[in-house]
Amino acid sequence: MHSKSYILGIESSCDDTAAAVICNGKILSNIVATQEIHTEFGGVVPELASRAHQQNILPVVHQAIAKANIDKKDLSAIAFTKGPGLMGALLVGTSFAKSFAMGLNIPLVSVNHMQAHILAHFIDDENKEKPNFPFIALTISGGHTQIVVVKDYFEMEIIGQTLDDAIGEAFDKSAKILGLDYPGGPILDAYAQKGNPLAFPFTKPKVGPMDFSFSGLKTAVLYFVEREVKANPKFIEENMADICASIQFTIVDYVMDKLKNAVKETGIKEIAIGGGVSANSEIRKVLTEAQQKHGWKVHIPKLEYCTDNAAMVAIVGQLKYEREIFAANDVVANSRLKF
Ligand code: KG4
Ligand code: ZN
Repeated sequence: MHSKSYILGIESSCDDTAAAVICNGKILSNIVATQEIHTEFGGVVPELASRAHQQNILPVVHQAIAKANIDKKDLSAIAFTKGPGLMGALLVGTSFAKSFAMGLNIPLVSVNHMQAHILAHFIDDENKEKPNFPFIALTISGGHTQIVVVKDYFEMEIIGQTLDDAIGEAFDKSAKILGLDYPGGPILDAYAQKGNPLAFPFTKPKVGPMDFSFSGLKTAVLYFVEREVKANPKFIEENMADICASIQFTIVDYVMDKLKNAVKETGIKEIAIGGGVSANSEIRKVLTEAQQKHGWKVHIPKLEYCTDNAAMVAIVGQLKYEREIFAANDVVANSRLKF
């Protein structure tokens, strides 16, 4: 590359309004406004998300540019999340990015949110080695559960995915049954660390070798808890750690089964994880152990690049900018965008 390019990334697909600036692979700023409004409803309310995005987007973009210590006139391109996600939420980021790029007379780059989760591994970080192609990406969050073969930056194939709930929903819905706050994943994880993972066995749902299903697990947890509480009203509080550890163990063991199948199927032993559930302590532990145990090479990015963020949008923006893959000015958001 001959000169410096500054790319602004904008992410607004779900409940985080985010903006980041990248310069030749290095993240200069990475701002996220998380919408607290959804906590009291126990899940993301789309209408409220759109409104909060509209409220947050300008301050967040402003902060990202200021923190990067540049002027908006220094920007070379603007990248935004085109989809998949909530339509009303995507429209805010898309419309903002289009207008801003037009105002500055610079190119616009559209970004697939799921590809961005994967390509976040290519952000420069002295402490981390970048994955080598081909590798397997495991994207696990409140909205997604996918196993993807990544042959090149923009050559990806989904080989496994959830048929119903996302893995984060499995954590959050189980946590809700136990009376824990939303999002319950991290709370369940914290209890699980003090419990016995083998205390209460749950059956792992049977679907295709690399696919996932989590709705049955949620029902199994619900019936189990209802039955036990009938016999002992204090069952949950007396066994919280063991219940959480057992649920977490079941989910993580299930993910490992699927990954082992993917490695067997593809012959690829390099694995890169992303998405908010990558924060889970048990997943991190078993994947780290798998390096020794199965000879895998595992990449776990910084947590701020795992959860929804705009740094991942900015790195895709840069990769596309370098290849001159620009969006037309009539580009539209797509809530069901595929690879
Ligand atoms: O990527 P993310 O921030 O947002 C999207 O869903 O796109 O992921 C949030 C999800 C929530 O379901 C949350 O409960 C889950 O990630 N999560 C966890 C942990 N930390 C976050 N699940 C299990 N264990 C954790 N430590
Ligand atoms: Zn996401």
